[in-house]
Amino acid sequence: MSAASIRSLSKSKQTARIVIIGAGTAGIAAATRLLEQGFKNVLLLEAEDRIGGRINTIPFADNVIDLGAQWCHGEVGNVVYERVKDLNLLETTEGHYETFRCVRSNKEVLSDEVADNLKSIAFNSIPERQTELTDYKGSLGDYLTQKYWKELEKLPAINQTIAEEFLENFHKFESSVEAADHLYEVSGRGHLEYWLCEGELLLNWRDKGYKSFLRLLMQSKQNNPDDLGVLKGRVLLNKRIAQINWTGADEVLIRCWNGEVLTADHVICTVSLGVLKEQHSQLFVPALPEAKVRAIKGLKLGTVDKLFLEYALPPLPKDWPGFCCLWLAEDLQELRSSARFWLESVFGFYPVSYQPRLLQGWIIGEHARHMETLTEEQVLEGLLWLFRKFLPFDVPQPVRCLRTQWHANPNFRGSYTFRTTMADELRTGAWDLEAPLLDIGGRPRLQFAGEASHKHYYSTVHGAAETGWREADRLNSYYRSKTAQL
Ligand SMILES: Cc1cc2nc3c(=O)[nH]c(=O)nc-3n(C[C@H](O)[C@H](O)[C@H](O)COP(=O)(O)OP(=O)(O)OC[C@H]3O[C@@H](n4cnc5c(N)ncnc54)[C@H](O)[C@@H]3O)c2cc1C
Ligand SMILES: *[C@@H]1O[C@H](CO)[C@@H](O)[C@H](O)[C@H]1NC(C)=O
Ligand SMILES: *[C@@H]1O[C@H](CO)[C@@H](O)[C@H](O)[C@H]1NC(C)=O
Repeated sequence: MSAASIRSLSKSKQTARIVIIGAGTAGIAAATRLLEQGFKNVLLLEAEDRIGGRINTIPFADNVIDLGAQWCHGEVGNVVYERVKDLNLLETTEGHYETFRCVRSNKEVLSDEVADNLKSIAFNSIPERQTELTDYKGSLGDYLTQKYWKELEKLPAINQTIAEEFLENFHKFESSVEAADHLYEVSGRGHLEYWLCEGELLLNWRDKGYKSFLRLLMQSKQNNPDDLGVLKGRVLLNKRIAQINWTGADEVLIRCWNGEVLTADHVICTVSLGVLKEQHSQLFVPALPEAKVRAIKGLKLGTVDKLFLEYALPPLPKDWPGFCCLWLAEDLQELRSSARFWLESVFGFYPVSYQPRLLQGWIIGEHARHMETLTEEQVLEGLLWLFRKFLPFDVPQPVRCLRTQWHANPNFRGSYTFRTTMADELRTGAWDLEAPLLDIGGRPRLQFAGEASHKHYYSTVHGAAETGWREADRLNSYYRSKTAQL
């Protein structure tokens, strides 16, 4: 036996050095679970100057806003919900994404009756565990479009032009749920792989934000907003990793962008699918196996951005809980040939719980990526133009405007993942992303966690947390079986 393998075999939970790349949900979940299991040498390396990753709660207006994850999606089988349900932290979000007005680009507001009919047809066309989808070969876009028009035949009184404008808008709304550029790249069949947790789908964190969940995992001190709890002294910020070299049987070499090299016995990599797509061929030595590269190519991390507008007073009339934008064909054509073309993918503005002076808008896809390259002034100018175009009343000047840039940031390169039709073609999926890389003796050396690696709860915080725990448990069972053998 080589000296290196003897060294590695003599490692125990007390001495094994575990490095976790990324201090987002998956990294924090993995680290806290490893410590619970008795591992002593656990270190998180984070590229940003803050922890949390795609959970980013910041002070804003009357309390806080979430630039990333905002709601706990569902209850049954949702580990986030399970952890906090008795702590009075979550609250149902009242109808913000149901009661909005539908406004056309000629300022015409759809009647409640027409709007309600169109909303209910559209929402009912989304496949939730619909068995007819099991053998469906097309995209979610094909499925949704066919179903929508079929259902609409039952309501001949609804004007086709308006129904079409609404469908266009709904496609964008649903694309934001998926984080897809458009629904024709989302696998229809693959949609069944995503498990919806039963119960309330939009549970908000009151005036505290999603960060509350991470604080709970870390057991942060109540009175200190920056307390890392059990992770104190175990997180290195501003440590962007450039290379993970797991050649040979001995330790893994981790090189930071500034040239510094750290060593570990095990590495758990939690960087986003977007970072993997851009970096994997340089990041890993030796190169990743074929199957994993296929998963990195086949799955997709799309772009969804938020647009926050803060006003001195609540900006919309009382009977306007928010609105979505329906484009008349001729107006859209004109917009497309202007510099404001990106506004086409801003699909609506909605209230924010506990923030009466805010409006939250959403933008998706290619146009979101373009918006990220504009200055904040240009973004604001565009949004005010959009309000003037659509709204039949004046909206005051906001006191502050803020937009997210999830794609432009090299530590994310997007928002959350979905299963593409190409992933079906390549017969790949989260299971290939999850697979750990072991040495000849079956010892995990390089493990993968993060929302994209969850087979059923990808794109969510509860999914990300489970993947962190999964990889901690994998190491724990390795060390348990190892002790049993001795
Ligand atoms: C706009 C938006 C809205 C969302 N809304 C919701 C929601 O309402 N509900 C919900 O459940 N989910 C939501 N999500 C998804 C949710 O935020 C993510 O699924 C989850 O936070 C991902 O956690 P993660 O640990 O997998 O990845 P991340 O949080 O991305 O963590 C990975 C970490 O790795 C770091 N990193 C990257 N590259 C390197 C490197 N080279 N070296 C070192 N560190 C590196 C990153 O900085 C990051 O901190 C939303 C996401 C976005 C962007
Ligand atoms: C539907 O609405 C459009 C636009 O408002 C209008 O031009 C058209 O005449 C309407 N069609 C019918 C059948 O009412
Ligand atoms: C990776 O590490 C090995 C030693 O374990 C070393 O020989 C090799 O040169 C390294 N590769 C790179 C590309 O740095």
